[in-house]
Amino acid sequence: MSRVPIMAGNWKMNLGPADAAVLARDILQETGQVTTVEQILCPPFVSLYAVNDAIRGSVLRVGAQNAHAEPDGAFTGEVSAPMLTGLVDYVILGHSERRQFCHETDDEVNAKLHAVLEAGLVPIVCVGESLEENQAGQTSEVVTRQVQGALANVTGADAGRLVIAYEPVWAIGSGLAATPDVAEEVCGEIIRILLADLYDGTVAETTRILYGGSTNPGNIASYMESPDIDGALIGGSALKKDTYTAMVRVTAGA
Ligand code: PGA
Repeated sequence: MSRVPIMAGNWKMNLGPADAAVLARDILQETGQVTTVEQILCPPFVSLYAVNDAIRGSVLRVGAQNAHAEPDGAFTGEVSAPMLTGLVDYVILGHSERRQFCHETDDEVNAKLHAVLEAGLVPIVCVGESLEENQAGQTSEVVTRQVQGALANVTGADAGRLVIAYEPVWAIGSGLAATPDVAEEVCGEIIRILLADLYDGTVAETTRILYGGSTNPGNIASYMESPDIDGALIGGSALKKDTYTAMVRVTAGA
């Protein structure tokens, strides 16, 4: 079963509309011809329109970084999944920064995931243990709980559509990437096997599982050689045309 690899750039709270459009256009010019890797740009909400406009008609895809669980209502400052349709194909959910700073729980991630699926969009669900949990040997327990929590009451048909990103909290933005062996073990032996248990072999084989945390042009090949890692959710290295497009090219084998 071959899974199309993903290089998803999580731009976090960086790049307003004008700067975001410039980066999107630069990337389009550099790797817009690459069709063997799915390139997903995830700017802040305010820049979604500009990025969408910049890459229109190309192979590049756009993602949001969050969505509210309700379709509309009195939720000041929030954006719902149906509002994102037409602007994005993907929505990152449960990023550790949202779990940490916005106190998002597994139940909230699950509610958002249902809303995103209902809107016809593809969730990129982030899971990963903290440094303390890692040191206490709780990686498997934490990742299993987060995946199960996010996927509660999700059917096999829907589960087969989504993307899961394993992002150990201690590796994000730290320069201390998980080794490819550790990342492969979590993606393959924990997450993919859990999907087979929760659903079936087909869901386990079709779901794309990404690694995220201090990936860069120098280390991306070692992750992409791992059979159960289908790409990366990239933070810092996604904010520069040169580093992001280098990672796309390495992944494409070009
Ligand atoms: P990083 O961030 O690549 O800067 O470590 C990854 C992420 O937070 O998705």
